[in-house]
This record gives sequence, structure tokens and C-alpha cells, in this order.
Amino acid sequence: MNERLETERLLLRKPERTDIPALVTGLGDWDVAKNLGRVPFPYSDADAHEFFDRLEARSPDQFDLTFGITVKVDGSYIGGCGVHLRENGEFELGYWIGKPQWGRGYATEAARAVVQAAFAEPRIGTITAGYYFDNPPSGHVLVKLGFVPCGEEMRECRARGHAVRCHAMLLTRQAFQLKHAA
Ligand SMILES: CC(C)(COP(=O)(O)OP(=O)(O)OC[C@H]1O[C@@H](n2cnc3c(N)ncnc32)[C@H](O)[C@@H]1OP(=O)(O)O)[C@@H](O)C(=O)NCCC(=O)NCCS
Repeated sequence: MNERLETERLLLRKPERTDIPALVTGLGDWDVAKNLGRVPFPYSDADAHEFFDRLEARSPDQFDLTFGITVKVDGSYIGGCGVHLRENGEFELGYWIGKPQWGRGYATEAARAVVQAAFAEPRIGTITAGYYFDNPPSGHVLVKLGFVPCGEEMRECRARGHAVRCHAMLLTRQAFQLKHAA
């Protein structure tokens, strides 16, 4: 699995504990945290350390694709993106971008690279994702990647402290390849 991914404007790399101040600023924003499933609010240094503890506790054979998103021109740490193996066996895409950087196409650019890296794994034929009903921008990102709706469900949102209506989305390797064929 690649440790780094490069796109036109972004360098995706392993998050480091030195990135904690940027994580706390980015995820400490209600408008970011309320749209993520497992991020507590408020988000503290201790929460960020827990995130790194979990990352470091994973065994090398455990599937994990977790990237910090940095901007190439200045190295700033602006978000995160990954594909994670859920308990139900699904490979799920997740991402966030710090609010000052929204609307520049960074989430789409980063997620496209991460999805491509995930599909390089032969065992991954389908990737899932979900976005809350009150978060249409995330739906735009997923549709641009080729995801299609496959239902809806209530999903827990840790920051809000309750379950929220969520669009379930699905992307097959074939659909991704067709969408991104040169
Ligand atoms: C969702 C999120 C990742 C998008 O990041 P981004 O870098 O701004 O995304 P992009 O610029 O690549 O694309 C955003 C899309 O949403 C659209 N958009 C922006 N605001 C919108 C709004 N209020 N309503 C509908 N669409 C909107 C943009 O126009 C763009 O689509 P387009 O290219 O078709 O015009 C970012 O807002 C975020 O981190 N939110 C909080 C965390 C989150 O929602 N994560 C995803 C969980 S499923």
C-alpha cells in the first residue's frame, strides 16, 4: 500500500503527531465535526492522540488506508481522507477538509486518489460511503467520483450525539474506471 499519494495540487501522506494542532483546528469546527460519524465535539488534543494510538495499534496485516491531506505549495495540513474496513466487511470512504479550504475541489481531488489506491487492492471491488441528508456538498463529491445511491439509513453521529438520516452510496471498481477513463 502506498505511503504517499500525489495529485496535481495535493500530497497525501501518513498523518503524524506533529499534525495534531492542524487536526484540532480542522476537526474542532462544528461544521466539520457534525458531518462526520465518529469525531467527538469539541475535539481536543487528547482526542487527536487517541486517533494516533488507534492508528499505531493496527497490525501490519490489517487493512488501512489513512491519509492526511497537505497542499503541495506550502505543506499546510488541510484535512484527511481514507478507506476503512468496517465491522460489516464494507470498505468505506471518509474525508474532511478544513472549512477555510472548502469549495476548491480539494476533497474531490484527494478522494479520487485514495479511491484509486484502494481499487489497486484486488480484494476491493466495491467501496461504500454515506453522507447525512443535511450535507449535500459531500454528496456532490461522491457523485463526481462515480458513486451512486443505494439506500438510506440512520447513522450515529458522535458530535451531534444522535443518529442522523444518511444517504448510503456505492462505487464499483468498474464504475470508477469508466468514469475516469482517459
Ligand atoms: C464535504 C467536504 C469534504 C467538501 O470539501 P470540498 O473540498 O469543499 O469539496 P469540493 O470542492 O471537492 O466539492 C464540493 C462540492 O460541493 C458543492 N457545494 C458546496 N456547497 C454546497 C451547498 N451548500 N449545497 C450543495 N452543494 C454544495 C460544490 O459546488 C462542489 O460541487 P461541484 O464541484 O459539483 O460544484 C467539506 O465540506 C467537509 O469537510 N465537510 C465536513 C466533513 C464532511 O462532510 N465530510 C464528508 C462526510 S460524508
